[in-house]
Amino acid sequence: MTISVLTIMPELFGSFLQAPVIARAIRNGVLEVKIIDIREYAPGSFRHIDDSPFGGGAGMVMRCQPVLDALRACNNKDRTVILSPAGKPYTQKKAHELSSAGHLVLICGHYEGMDARIYPHADEQISIGDYVLTGGEIAAQVIIDSIARLLPGSLRDESTQEESFENGLLEYPQYTQPAVYEGEAVPDVLRSGDHEKIRKWRLQQSLLLTRRMRPDLFEAHVLTEEEKALLAEADDSSFSI
Ligand code: ADE
Repeated sequence: MTISVLTIMPELFGSFLQAPVIARAIRNGVLEVKIIDIREYAPGSFRHIDDSPFGGGAGMVMRCQPVLDALRACNNKDRTVILSPAGKPYTQKKAHELSSAGHLVLICGHYEGMDARIYPHADEQISIGDYVLTGGEIAAQVIIDSIARLLPGSLRDESTQEESFENGLLEYPQYTQPAVYEGEAVPDVLRSGDHEKIRKWRLQQSLLLTRRMRPDLFEAHVLTEEEKALLAEADDSSFSI
């Protein structure tokens, strides 16, 4: 998969692309990331990428020409996304959907926004949350990170299936050595060696955790008969954290 990022701050991607999972995906040839400096498409020695808004008002607006020329230079793109606080909220489901694109283009907005004539050139706008960032670069990095770890050969083990959100629930609590830390013991079941009991306990914890922390996800989750039974047998002492 190729991800092209159109940005006015290419320097923000240097160390990001060296993060282990992303670097491994690139090394293994399952991911290529092209950082494209929009400024290079702006003519003249001033490389004029923004201007004041028609109608007046504070701030600057990104101009059509450099952004759209940079976009046109991306060959064989099959999905173009603008990062914007006005976009649809980003989810794990969307990460899966985008990960199947051959060539994804991410356009990072800046200033007070982009000229409205740029938006119809993208397939969609995505927001990573209800807050305003200085620019779309961090949002683009969030998207690249979440996609990279879904690509085969990026994670050391294929451990994404049981993660939070993959089955619509938060992930169960995890423990490692020592078995007792400052008087707090790891739940006995995890040391029992009984895989079926462990599976049930983990599912029950996922359900309890999701109901407590993310009632919105819990409401949207359709409970199986087994999940109903696990919830029915849980009481206050069942919660491990
Ligand atoms: N650009 C500025 N704020 C943003 C947000 N919340 N999500 C995506 N892109 C943005």
